[in-house]
Amino acid sequence: MKGIILVGGLGTRLAPMTRVTNKHLLPVGQFPMVYYPLHSLVDAGIRDIMLVTGGNNPGAFLELLRDGREFGLDHLYFTYQQEPKGIADAARCAQHFVGDDCCLVMLGDNILAGSIRPFVEGYQQQGQGARVLLAEVPDPERFGVPDFDEEGNIINIIEKPDRPPSSYAVIGVYMYDQLLWEILSTLQLSDRGQYEITDVQNAYLERGLLTYDTIDFAWSDAGTPESLFRATQMVHDSDFLPVVNTKPSQ
Ligand code: G1P
Repeated sequence: MKGIILVGGLGTRLAPMTRVTNKHLLPVGQFPMVYYPLHSLVDAGIRDIMLVTGGNNPGAFLELLRDGREFGLDHLYFTYQQEPKGIADAARCAQHFVGDDCCLVMLGDNILAGSIRPFVEGYQQQGQGARVLLAEVPDPERFGVPDFDEEGNIINIIEKPDRPPSSYAVIGVYMYDQLLWEILSTLQLSDRGQYEITDVQNAYLERGLLTYDTIDFAWSDAGTPESLFRATQMVHDSDFLPVVNTKPSQ
C-alpha cells in the first residue's frame, strides 16, 4: 500500500500565518504539522510515501524532511499540485506513484492521538473498494458528514452541511483501490471551485464499495485558528507522538 500526504493548498483560514509559509509547516506542539500525518503512516507500516506539495513554500518540505531517514524511511517522494483545486485533485497528482497498488490518502492537517494500524489492516483484508474513518465531533457542519440508515450503513456523505444528518465527521484518512483513478477522472468541480474528496466517497458508496471504521481516540484538523489550538492541546496530552531520530547523519 502506498501512502499519500496532501500538504498543498493556501491555508487561507490561517492567514496571516500562512501568508509566507505553508500551513503544514506551522508548529503543533514540538513538531511541524506535517510530522504528525507522516508518523501516522509510518506507524501503520506504510513505507512508500509521497507528499503532494503546492501553495506556499513547497520546496521547504524537502529541506525539512529530506529523504525521510528521521522517520526510519529509505526514501521519501515529492510531487507538486499546480493549482489549489481541492483534495481530490491533489490526490490525482500521485497517480503515477501509486501504480497498480492501493493507497492511503491522508490530509496533512489531520492530527491523530492514536494508531490507524488496525484500520489499515482491516482495509487490506477487505481487498477492494474504499474505507473511511469516522470521529464523533461537536461541530459536524465543518466536515464531510455521513448519513446512516437504520442498520448503521452510510447512505450518503454531505460536505459541510447546514443541517448535519449525524454527529460524525469523515476524517482526513482515506483508503482506496484502483477504482479511485476512474472516479477522479469523472469528477465535476463543486460550487466552491474544488474537486471534492466527498464526491469520491459517494461514488464508491453508489457502487456498494465503501466501508468505515469509527476511531476511538482523539482527532483534530488544524486548518483554522481554533482547530490548530485544539490540535496543539491534543498533542500536549497525547503519548502518540512522532518518533524521530534527530541525530545528525554521518
Ligand atoms: C476536508 C474534507 C472534509 C473532511 C475534512 C477532515 O475539509 O473536505 O470532508 O471532513 O477535510 O479534516 P476541509 O479541510 O476542506 O475543511
